[in-house]
Amino acid sequence: MQHTGALAVWALCLIQLAFGQTIDDGGITVDATSGTVAPAVEEVAPDSAASGVEYLDYETAQLTPDVVANLTSHDLTDVELFDFGDEDAAAVASRKRATNYGQPDCKTFPGDLSWPSTIHWKLLNILTGGALIKAVPTAAPCYKSWPQYNAVTCDDITAKWTSPKFQLSQPVGIDFPLFEGVSCMPPTVAPPNSNCTLGGTPSYVVKVRNVAQIQLAVNFARNLNLRLNVKNKGHDFNAKSTGAGSLSVWTNFLQDIQYLGPSYSKDGHKGPAFKVGAGVEVMQMYEAADALNLVVVGGIGRTVGLGGGYIAGGGHSPLMSTYGLGADQVLSMEVVLPNGRFVSVDEKSYPDLFFALRGGGGGTYGIVTSLVIRAYPKTPVTTLTYTFGTGPNITNSTFWQGMDVIWSSFPRLADTELYAYWSIGCASGGSECSFSMGPQWANNMSTSQLKAQYEPVFAQLADLDIAVSNVTYIEYDGLKNAFDHTLPANTESVGGFTFHTASRLFPRANWEDPAKLKKQSAAIHDAIMQTGYMIGYNFKSGTNPAVNQKNAVNPAWRNTLCHGMFGAAWNLDSTPTEIAAANKRLVEIVQPLRDVSPGAGAYMNEADINEPDWQQSFYGSFYDRLYGLKQRYDPWGLLYADTAVGSEDWYITDQIDYFPTQNGRLCRK
Ligand SMILES: Cc1cc2nc3c(=O)[nH]c(=O)nc-3n(C[C@H](O)[C@H](O)[C@H](O)COP(=O)(O)OP(=O)(O)OC[C@H]3O[C@@H](n4cnc5c(N)ncnc54)[C@H](O)[C@@H]3O)c2cc1C
Ligand SMILES: *[C@@H]1O[C@H](CO)[C@@H](O)[C@H](O)[C@H]1NC(C)=O
Ligand SMILES: *[C@@H]1O[C@H](CO)[C@@H](O)[C@H](O)[C@H]1NC(C)=O
Ligand SMILES: *[C@@H]1O[C@H](CO)[C@@H](O)[C@H](O)[C@H]1NC(C)=O
Ligand SMILES: *[C@@H]1O[C@H](CO)[C@@H](O)[C@H](O)[C@H]1NC(C)=O
Ligand SMILES: *[C@@H]1O[C@H](CO)[C@@H](O)[C@H](O)[C@H]1NC(C)=O
Ligand SMILES: *[C@@H]1O[C@H](CO)[C@@H](O)[C@H](O)[C@H]1NC(C)=O
Repeated sequence: MQHTGALAVWALCLIQLAFGQTIDDGGITVDATSGTVAPAVEEVAPDSAASGVEYLDYETAQLTPDVVANLTSHDLTDVELFDFGDEDAAAVASRKRATNYGQPDCKTFPGDLSWPSTIHWKLLNILTGGALIKAVPTAAPCYKSWPQYNAVTCDDITAKWTSPKFQLSQPVGIDFPLFEGVSCMPPTVAPPNSNCTLGGTPSYVVKVRNVAQIQLAVNFARNLNLRLNVKNKGHDFNAKSTGAGSLSVWTNFLQDIQYLGPSYSKDGHKGPAFKVGAGVEVMQMYEAADALNLVVVGGIGRTVGLGGGYIAGGGHSPLMSTYGLGADQVLSMEVVLPNGRFVSVDEKSYPDLFFALRGGGGGTYGIVTSLVIRAYPKTPVTTLTYTFGTGPNITNSTFWQGMDVIWSSFPRLADTELYAYWSIGCASGGSECSFSMGPQWANNMSTSQLKAQYEPVFAQLADLDIAVSNVTYIEYDGLKNAFDHTLPANTESVGGFTFHTASRLFPRANWEDPAKLKKQSAAIHDAIMQTGYMIGYNFKSGTNPAVNQKNAVNPAWRNTLCHGMFGAAWNLDSTPTEIAAANKRLVEIVQPLRDVSPGAGAYMNEADINEPDWQQSFYGSFYDRLYGLKQRYDPWGLLYADTAVGSEDWYITDQIDYFPTQNGRLCRK
């Protein structure tokens, strides 16, 4: 880069100003927890948010135009590394910057002449108050090729590898490494003869503790044509929160929760509400609400980030049949835009972004730092679990007749505002199958009330001589304890790469026509015969007059009674070619399910990265509008994630069909 010399002098000057000493040219070693105050921060008043809700503590530390003016007053001519972006000028400017030494229109990659020098990174580290981390693969201590090699540490990492709590505590930890590229796994769970490389892992991570740090990272990445990536908990099934050569914004630690009182009113709505940091986990939120005799709409993964990918993607929940999806609960948001500015987003301020950020996908339009969400009165919960399966008295064809009984109960149960999470497993060529309800979930119902709803199902199964086992009703005081007991922490196991799932949202219309339902049942049967397994849900997207449901949630969600997930699996020693073949087969296995639900869709957060026509499947009729908003707010293509809106304009180099990874250079098509 031409200006590196002048910049380096300026940067050193600034470092000396900040700390009164020059810092060595080694790696970035400043401890991100040291809490040094960044020079590039202005404290703003908590009550200056346009949303009308006071900023959380970490939101008052901002990169304001005044701060940037102070930085750029150091005679910087045209290298304005931390300057804000201008969308209108972007088309021209981003083309100019993208001329990248033989790699036209690619994001700058490590090793490129234009890759930021160590001094640039040090500068970013200083201005963020020591929040920058040079990325090292989580399992690097297991490999002699890394200076971090340490057998004892490796044993510890290996023992914790499948825990989502462990992965989310690591700067570049993600739950599902498959579509990252499986670049560095602990040897016991790695492909044979594996090495450890950064692969599709970011190059640097900003461990965010305040809004200014996000803004600095956004401006730095945009101005230097770097790939930017947002990671909250790293739960995404399709590795959407990682990427080779990227600067990663890690929002995990934005964990404040503020109760806004029992009668918070906004845009005509009145009732209990919380302001929730983007890094708050579902379980944390359930606990905070429970302590106030309240509940919020969240999912069944306890470590999922409520305000990250969950709400951005739609968010299904045990409460959704009553109150709508996670995305329907939002009253306002605070967001760092791709241009670096920090704004409030609600029905009046940036209403178009308010639409997109609720259901239009994570890591696409901006970086959310907090959200105001509705809460509701806590009610008792009753759950029901049971199983049935083939056996001496139940043939596989009787089993599937039993499944027809289950399918046909879905409209009635969803309309009674119930929610169910269940699975079907088949083995031995389809001769042995079992169904497991785990659980049928009833809000504000006692055992006798739930029995009244469910006994007709058991009676019909009995008519087929299907005996159900382990029928268990349990009553709880509320959602938190029901969740805690039904879906305990140790049931969440992550970190593997030998399976992959696809999703389908089956439309209610299929239940309104017996011929369609029959076709759907047959297609599901045939898919399970090939995959051996299905995980499913029964629910509906509740109509909630107390919230604004005019958001970007995939319209397929509004009509569904069942979300089904189907998987492909392979072995630790399967080659990339074999994995690609299994992925291709999954696309083919799911095709009949698409065919019996034309115009419906899939849940982007739990879907197949290889989904054909994903724009329609994940976003439905909103796609064109969302694409327009993406162009308007991010003409730079700063935020990229596979299958995110606008991602079809980009590609990653060195890929094989049906096994896309984040291990390559990101380039514009
Ligand atoms: C064990 C488990 C259980 C689950 N249960 C449910 C469930 O019950 N219901 C349900 O609907 N889903 C469920 N999911 C899916 C879950 O909603 C998605 O994986 C979701 O994307 C996770 O979000 P995250 O922020 O935790 O993950 P991340 O991987 O960190 O982020 C996911 C995406 O959102 C983006 N993103 C993250 N934070 C921000 C931010 N602050 N601003 C802008 N973009 C951001 C990322 O860039 C990425 O594209 C479950 C997942 C797991 C692993
Ligand atoms: C800008 O710099 C001046 C002089 O050092 C300082 O007094 C002022 O507080 C700075 N303003 C901001 C917003 O950082
Ligand atoms: C790992 O590195 C060794 C030595 O460089 C090489 O022989 C081997 O093929 C590599 N393994 C993989 C899976 O790339
Ligand atoms: C099968 O049916 C017979 C006759 O009705 C009964 O005695 C037996 O207990 C049943 N077995 C199982 C496993 O249900
Ligand atoms: C029952 O299992 C056999 C294999 O034993 C399989 O051929 C048949 O298709 C299965 N029937 C159904 C209805 O699944
Ligand atoms: C729960 O049910 C009771 C009685 O059926 C009803 O009065 C109450 O309004 C319900 N609560 C909620 C939050 O729906
Ligand atoms: C019923 O539950 C018990 C105890 O949880 C378990 O051991 C058994 O396998 C279950 N039976 C069936 C048929 O699932």
